[in-house]
Amino acid sequence: MSALEKVFYSPVGQGVAKKAGLSEPPTLRRGRTWPQGAIVLAPLEGATLGKLTLKALGRAFEAPVVDTDTDQAPGYGSRIGALMVDATALTTLGQLEQVRAVLRPAMKGLERSGRIVILAAAPAGGWEQRALARALDGIDRTVGKELRGGATTNLVYVEPGVRPGDLASTLEFLLQGRSAFVDGQTWTVSASGTKATVSDKPLAGKTAVVTGAARGIGAAIARTLARDGAHLIVVDIPPAGEALAAVANEVGGTALHLDITAADAGHTLAAHIAERGHELYAVVHNAGITRDKMLANTDAARWASVLDVNLQAQMRINDVLLNPKTKGGLAKGGRLVGIASTSGLAGNKGQTNYAASKAGVAGLVQAMAPDLADRGITVNAVAPGFIETDMTARIPFVQREIFRRTNSLSQGGSPVDVAETIGYLLDPASAGVTGQVIRVCGQNLVGA
Ligand SMILES: NC(=O)c1ccc[n+]([C@@H]2O[C@H](COP(=O)([O-])OP(=O)(O)OC[C@H]3O[C@@H](n4cnc5c(N)ncnc54)[C@H](O)[C@@H]3O)[C@@H](O)[C@H]2O)c1
Repeated sequence: MSALEKVFYSPVGQGVAKKAGLSEPPTLRRGRTWPQGAIVLAPLEGATLGKLTLKALGRAFEAPVVDTDTDQAPGYGSRIGALMVDATALTTLGQLEQVRAVLRPAMKGLERSGRIVILAAAPAGGWEQRALARALDGIDRTVGKELRGGATTNLVYVEPGVRPGDLASTLEFLLQGRSAFVDGQTWTVSASGTKATVSDKPLAGKTAVVTGAARGIGAAIARTLARDGAHLIVVDIPPAGEALAAVANEVGGTALHLDITAADAGHTLAAHIAERGHELYAVVHNAGITRDKMLANTDAARWASVLDVNLQAQMRINDVLLNPKTKGGLAKGGRLVGIASTSGLAGNKGQTNYAASKAGVAGLVQAMAPDLADRGITVNAVAPGFIETDMTARIPFVQREIFRRTNSLSQGGSPVDVAETIGYLLDPASAGVTGQVIRVCGQNLVGA
């Protein structure tokens, strides 16, 4: 902690901050926890998908209490834990009024760390239906900015043919504390025909590789996947050996000291897996570096190192692991996850090389997903915003405090928030989630 930071976080500093309007950020509900209050379901125009999915999850739910005659918001009685708006049967813009009517009383009626989840048909069909789908996205993003107390909102587009089994892991993730720092986001679930059901140990018996796992987000990913039952192979550069060994011991996995930019990294990884008789289920390409400079000062070496670690190395490794002839390669029905960044989606001063690499990760997963669908392999990315790690500790204090505050939850995220989102994507029951880039940023004001 710098001297300035120590003063800021002292009782006196916090008193001054409060007077300046910087209120204490809410403590977020995290982990495999459910809302405390009731889950309220609003099935608009007779929609049934939300109801059937909640039933598949074994969650009880209530009907909303809204006085439609007076347009007054009588509220939901006591504080509610979550409001789920099933808008999948809406077809006209006029029907958006129904969304307003059920959301309005919830805006002040949600418990701390409460949830709003909106389900909608994925954009398709005529002009009005496509406009409707996008209008719901606008509602979601704005509601996220208006909610208080650590409550979040997210929108899920469902493709035709999606059954409750396809949606269950997504709804479970969104209602649970695991999605604490995912706010104001929209992503799509497709029909997958998966028979997997949600559980607290979805990765039992499965082997996952996490790169850059000696510290920060990578170590948190390893711990979270181990909690969910996975066997871990953790990878990091040789100088991080001691820290990596400690993580491997903690999660009961094996450590592999490997620079992912080495030409033979994919083969080394595959051999490590094959020698131990494992079947590779998932790879999380988490290792990443920054070499920040304004573009005017960025030389070829700074450019190349960031592009190579953050993007090109994972492409080379994927090429090896996706070759069906590779012993120790990725199994059918496997999972690939890349780490993008809000810097890549929005651009960030002084980070042209980093933004290129991270936007490239987003482009890569979107391109790969359809090509790997016939092998049942899903490919997704998470895009963290400001997460409290050694990487962000290097940012000057004032700038860091601004990054922390400029999102809807008024705080930086924790590495576990990124890890939980990856756990959701790795869940066998998330087979219908592919080609998505999910921001874990507390609805950072910057970017898409
Ligand atoms: N912290 C944030 O706010 C943030 C935001 C957006 C994206 N990210 C991304 O999340 C990932 C993890 O970030 P973090 O904050 O935990 O970073 P970190 O610097 O704390 O950890 C990164 C790890 O990757 C390892 N690594 C670097 N180069 C490697 C190589 N060539 N081979 C193997 N391992 C290598 C490092 O040794 C380190 O252990 C990165 O991809 C980063 O770009 C982080």
